[in-house]
Amino acid sequence: MPQAEPRLATDASQSLVGRFRATRRLMQDLLEPLSEADATIQSMDDASPAKWHAAHTTWFWETFLLRDHAPEYALFDEQFPFLFNSYYEAEGERIARRNRGLVTRPTLEQVLDWRQHVDAAMEALLGNPACADLIELGIAHEQQHIELLLTDIKHAFSKNPLGPAMWDKTHKQAPAQQDGWISHPGGIARIGHQAEGFAFDNEGPAHRTLLQPFALSRRLVTNADWAEFIADGGYRDHRLWLSDAWAWLDRRDIGSPLYWRGDEHFTHCGWQVRDPDAPVSHISFYEAEAFATWAGARLPTEFEWEAVARGQDAPQDAPSFEPAAGNQLDGAAPPQPVGTAELFGDVWQFTRSTYSPYPRFQPEPGAVGEYNGKFMAGQWVLKGASCATVRGHSRPSYRNFFYSQQRWQFTGLRLAKDI
Ligand code: AVJ
Ligand code: FE
Repeated sequence: MPQAEPRLATDASQSLVGRFRATRRLMQDLLEPLSEADATIQSMDDASPAKWHAAHTTWFWETFLLRDHAPEYALFDEQFPFLFNSYYEAEGERIARRNRGLVTRPTLEQVLDWRQHVDAAMEALLGNPACADLIELGIAHEQQHIELLLTDIKHAFSKNPLGPAMWDKTHKQAPAQQDGWISHPGGIARIGHQAEGFAFDNEGPAHRTLLQPFALSRRLVTNADWAEFIADGGYRDHRLWLSDAWAWLDRRDIGSPLYWRGDEHFTHCGWQVRDPDAPVSHISFYEAEAFATWAGARLPTEFEWEAVARGQDAPQDAPSFEPAAGNQLDGAAPPQPVGTAELFGDVWQFTRSTYSPYPRFQPEPGAVGEYNGKFMAGQWVLKGASCATVRGHSRPSYRNFFYSQQRWQFTGLRLAKDI
């Protein structure tokens, strides 16, 4: 299938240096349509200002690469670590998360100067084999923040009564999704990162797990499916909802996905009429679970999803999926779920698996050990990739994770069932 847009130099076929530069560049290109004010506000505790993302990723390079591995390097500004350390206790005190929008200084221009300074200093380390693993981590980290920047600014703009557009509307054409189910016979599945190349620590250790026979839907749940759920009283039928979810609905008066208004939804191109055939997005785990129950199906486990993604032990006619295919982010352009026949892309897919350590998981010693492991409480694993995920970032073992009620990410679902 020909790609609609040129691919960004971020996938695994590119060199480490090429991916470093393309990733740093993309983060900066995303700031281009934003005013100083756009880049500074924080619209809710879960979201961060765009300027903060640009600065925090720079802090990551300065702290874990330059400070620790470039002997001559001096910090650009002694006060920046307090402002731009996110959650690393081992790296000292930091501003409260909810106060990130109060950081009107440094200005965006000063942050961009810092980025340039750090990029220049990084050139000396990019060829150092002793730094390669940390550079891979820094690239993957900046790619995660590219996606967060996109979802956070979308949320901020959605709160503006004028409903501003970050970009003009572009028309993305996609091949239609396919109906039907991919069946899997079950059995012993190999789970976790087991190939060459970078993976986050939470994707390992690789291990085996037992699957019962199951089937995974070939398509994502669409806006039209969701409208049917609403019309059938789905949000008002307590039998479909977990107890915590029912209390959450009641408290927040929720009756549709985030960003829905009549037959429109909010996008990076402002308010737009929803495409009924596009995958539904911006739903919480609670809503995904209720929908699956209403549909007489269930959410897949992370292990079922991964086994299908690998084409592992699947029948001969099962499709094989390419993690870098599908609707993912190729540059500074509006992310928009469209619906493709791929397993990856469009929206992150909720699983019924709790975000827990795999058997024998050990976080790394030191501050980088705080990256993933300490968040393994009360969250759910999401698989795949979204339209805001940098192409090349995800893989079959990738584990994204969010809390039950969060829905500002491009989140959706693919049904599963027992067979
Ligand atoms: C994997 C998206 C849940 O938002 O905290 C960014 C990504 N980790 N910096 C998060 C992340 C460290 C992470 N998520
Ligand atoms: Fe981070």
